[in-house]
Amino acid sequence: MSVPRPAAVIVLAAGEGTRMKSKTPKVLHEVCGRTLVDHMLAAARGLTPERLVVVIGHAREQVGAHLAETAPDARLVVQEKRNGTGHAVRTALEAEGPIEGTILVTYGDTPLLRAETLAVLLERHAADANAVTVLTAVVPDPTGYGRIVRDGDGAVLEIVEEKDASPEQRAITEMNSGVYAFDGALLADGLRRIGAANAQGEEYLTDVLAILREDGHRVGACVAADHAEVEGVNDRVQLAFVRRVLNDRILEAHMRAGVTVVDPAGTWVDAGVVMEPDVVIHPGTQLRGATRVRAGAEVGPGSTLTDTVVGEDAVVRNTVADGAEIGAGATVGPFAYLRPGTVLGRGGKIGAYVETKNARIGEGSKVPHLTYVGDATIGAGSNIGAACVFVNYDGVGKHHTVVGDHVRVGSDNMLVAPVTIGDGAYTAAGSVITSDVPPGAMAVARGRQRNIEGWVARRRAGTPSDEAARRALAAPETAPETAAEGAPGVNGADPAAR
Ligand code: UD1
Ligand code: CA
Repeated sequence: MSVPRPAAVIVLAAGEGTRMKSKTPKVLHEVCGRTLVDHMLAAARGLTPERLVVVIGHAREQVGAHLAETAPDARLVVQEKRNGTGHAVRTALEAEGPIEGTILVTYGDTPLLRAETLAVLLERHAADANAVTVLTAVVPDPTGYGRIVRDGDGAVLEIVEEKDASPEQRAITEMNSGVYAFDGALLADGLRRIGAANAQGEEYLTDVLAILREDGHRVGACVAADHAEVEGVNDRVQLAFVRRVLNDRILEAHMRAGVTVVDPAGTWVDAGVVMEPDVVIHPGTQLRGATRVRAGAEVGPGSTLTDTVVGEDAVVRNTVADGAEIGAGATVGPFAYLRPGTVLGRGGKIGAYVETKNARIGEGSKVPHLTYVGDATIGAGSNIGAACVFVNYDGVGKHHTVVGDHVRVGSDNMLVAPVTIGDGAYTAAGSVITSDVPPGAMAVARGRQRNIEGWVARRRAGTPSDEAARRALAAPETAPETAAEGAPGVNGADPAAR
């Protein structure tokens, strides 16, 4: 962007936002993974200002603490009493000292404002050599906004607040967005001369325009192409509107960059999410935080991924993942829950009704069904049978389980941590593994089966079970075969090995 670099951007965020009816200060409400004020600051940074100043007041500890974390580049100025927009800017200038050059003033509650629109305002301000240029918009319903009063030649005379406006002025549909480019020195001078003799008894920043014009300076206006962009958030209805618009913008950018979004209306993607070409996002999917989806991966339907990395060509269906790393070509879901610290290797599988936490699952290893893997390291090429629990919690502390390479854990196993299963080992179905298993061993840890012949005939005589049993015993050709030799019921064992 070849626009004149502003000396400062001042973001006003001291107001209370009572119409949000919230314990959370208005500017800290989130849309698309960022607070309202952080969206504004992101747009402001697009102009590479020399200084970024945020005026805070209401809930200043909370807002200040948030900004200290998300915007360490911003200087915070506290406005003790909310005496109006003019007072807020004056407070900022008093704290910052004289600023030469252009000052852009904007609000913390207008997250749709784009850097491009602010750049157009700055360009116009510089090209027309104005003392001040206000960003305006023509809106269907200007109720509540300051109106732009122009003379017969279209020159801006003043801005009149709704509460101070005459009926004719109220009929004006060109509104003040509250965003301005000012000459720094003239702004400071104008602010020293504004009063509070108005309907709200506040120092109006808008009064600076009439003062500068009366002094013979050039006062201009720049009409925004899209009025929605300058409308701020005052209540939760507007919050939802803004979220929808921002989400549409984010999806459009991804689609133009080669991502397929099957259902844009039912897909929500945060501002910080990164996606590569040929990613496919199925309906009902939310991608949040710092999630990254690599080329060719498919996510959804019905998946919520937060701060999660999805590897190239991986497939993630009906899954909730938080802080997980899914390897290239891996498959996850449906109905999987990946909690922080889950790392699934290349080509691995986490299947249906599986929960994982702090679990490294090696390349090509599979956890296909109904299993909890907590605090574990699983090597490469291993298989965990259905319905296993990595028993990681003894009621006080958490313990780790290690499963080696090419291990076959039978179905319905409890691996009671801390425990290690060596490379190439097998465990029998239904085992409760409490001791380490050496490499290549078969661990059997379950009660031996005992058949009490004739028990039904003696204890359940005359029941349908008894009758079925009698029929079976009378037909010798249907008697059960003797069990094959080999693995005692290892799920997923190579049949060739039997
Ligand atoms: C202001 C403008 C109005 C414009 C509208 C656009 C004035 C006098 N009026 O009106 O012309 O159409 O914005 O939304 O400027 N703030 C502070 N400290 C204060 C007062 C306000 O930081 O003492 C901040 C608020 O947090 C908010 C912004 O300034 O972000 C605007 O304040 P608000 O009270 O909403 O101004 P409006 O009356 O809506
Ligand atoms: Ca407002």
